[in-house]
Amino acid sequence: MLRALGSASLLLAAAVAQTNFPPPPSPTGNPSTPQKELLGMALFFEEQLSSTSTVACATCHDFTRGGVDGRTSDGVNPGADGVFGTADDQRGSPGIASITGNGVAFGSPAHGFGAAVTGRRAPTVVNSGYHSSLMYDGSKQSLEDLVAAPPLNPVEMGHIGRTWTDVVQKLAGASPLVFASNLPARLQTFVNGRTYPDLFQLAFGSTQITQGRVAQAIASYMRTLNSDQSKFDRYLNGLAQLTPQEQLGLQLFNSPANGATSCSTCHGDFETRVRMEGPKVGQLTNQGGGPYSSPVPTLLLFHNVGVRPSHEDPGRLLVTSLPGDQGKFRVASLRNVALAAPYFHNGSVNTLHDVLDFYDRGGDFHDNQAALLTPRNYTIPEKDAIVALLNTLTDPRLAAGAMPFDRPTLGSQNGRLVTSIGQATMVAQAPVAPRVGEPWFQLTLERAPSTAFTFLLWDTAPNQGTAVLPGLELALSPSFVAFPTGMADWHWLVPGGTKRIPLPLPNVPSLSGQTLYAQFAAYDLAATVPLSFSNALRIQLQ
Ligand code: HEC
Ligand code: HEC
Repeated sequence: MLRALGSASLLLAAAVAQTNFPPPPSPTGNPSTPQKELLGMALFFEEQLSSTSTVACATCHDFTRGGVDGRTSDGVNPGADGVFGTADDQRGSPGIASITGNGVAFGSPAHGFGAAVTGRRAPTVVNSGYHSSLMYDGSKQSLEDLVAAPPLNPVEMGHIGRTWTDVVQKLAGASPLVFASNLPARLQTFVNGRTYPDLFQLAFGSTQITQGRVAQAIASYMRTLNSDQSKFDRYLNGLAQLTPQEQLGLQLFNSPANGATSCSTCHGDFETRVRMEGPKVGQLTNQGGGPYSSPVPTLLLFHNVGVRPSHEDPGRLLVTSLPGDQGKFRVASLRNVALAAPYFHNGSVNTLHDVLDFYDRGGDFHDNQAALLTPRNYTIPEKDAIVALLNTLTDPRLAAGAMPFDRPTLGSQNGRLVTSIGQATMVAQAPVAPRVGEPWFQLTLERAPSTAFTFLLWDTAPNQGTAVLPGLELALSPSFVAFPTGMADWHWLVPGGTKRIPLPLPNVPSLSGQTLYAQFAAYDLAATVPLSFSNALRIQLQ
């Protein structure tokens, strides 16, 4: 009897852990297999998918942040007017530095030698397998189609003029995930010292790497990133109770307010009546008329809620050319929204309370704004209740890194990519990752006094608090060396004096694992303090 009970509760546990709605179907031509999904997972976290080996898909789509970019507040795109610090600035995702087909960082007026920033905030990849329109403007219809774009995009991952031949060639010579660490067990077992041709053999039956196969593998993996175990899901399944405050939030979310249309009119992706992200009509099997027996097909539609004047980013209009679509963006999924700040396509709103204030005042711009987005007159406790409801939409597996959201630590997070030490007016950067054998490795300097003579300093250790000169970040160990690099250059795009030092890294395996520190110094006789330093760079060769 005890035994029987034991297995019954095991069964129950298994049922609870199951997905609450079925995974999105694979399209014809790309059936999912476990090996293909694992290859897609490896590629999703692969920084070497970018020309500079500094940016993976996962750099901009971070599970701990609900599948959006946790760095969004750091990346500013100057917006339509090209000027920073004005109202149309967009908070987006830093991608890669502007790099020519010969691997030369050439600098851009907005971002210097640093990473360019996307013109919109990255939306979540979680549950994206359910969407029939992808991107804020719906410009992509399938994940396979979408995935083929970022590796060539000169802001996100590609050098100018990059082709799929370049991508394939790079992957063929890469050691899989060499910059990542803490690989989840399933990924570690899959990669296990293999090359990419080996991994493609496992997933596709032959070693050939092609654009189509890369896109298919990543798309298959994305269809596993389904989040359906939030408190709200458990509530819908009768496994959890909402607090009175959350219940009030749900009621308010589903009701018109002071004549304004209800939140659920547009955001139906999680509540009982309409499931915009879940299964399509006909696939719902909850015969008891339970939570997932919605008769409405899953669609996220396009609306203009009035975040910015609609001419700045015309949104959906760019795809349809219909004037009525001016300023419309795809409705955001609210699943895991508590993790996903800052909000809206331009990342302009910092907290969920601020979003509620935005809707409460009827939005900010009213040109072509959706009907019935008028002021709501919510009380403070009412706004708190809606925020409490939104907080129930967080799937704990994302932050915990539990399957399917298990993930390695990226090179940008574990110090294997070049990291910066200290802050200074002069900016030193390494736009390309320090991989042994990397022909494009280079250091750049900008904002030096343009009348200065510059030096590049090297050491094997950082300063340990014994700096002899203010701003010097190196230890002055016996290995310290300084190379004169000449007068700071005038650069037609980047302000101030600049330097670009190409340092192709020889393909000598014994160099791997060595750590070096570099810093620029500028000597400017015209300045009150003639000697000044840039930030230093910690370079761990991989
Ligand atoms: C530099 C940051 C960056 C990188 C790298 C990046 N993305 Fe994105 N991603 C974005 C931005 C920004 C958007 C939205 C762009 C828009 O709507 O105009 C986006 C949109 C998406 C979407 C659409 C989600 C939806 O619901 O509409 C998916 C899926 C996606 N990216 C997957 C990927 C994959 C897979 C990779 C790697 C091959 C990748 N991204 C690389 C920033 C990035
Ligand atoms: C007319 C349709 C519509 C209504 C009504 C509406 N929304 Fe939205 N909502 C949208 C659209 C479209 C976006 C994306 C806008 C953008 O990114 O510029 C959005 C974005 C959001 C976001 C930001 C999510 C993110 O990740 O960026 C939150 C939070 C949100 N809405 C909550 C609400 C709440 C709460 C209500 C009710 C008070 C509500 N919405 C009413 C259409 C609507």
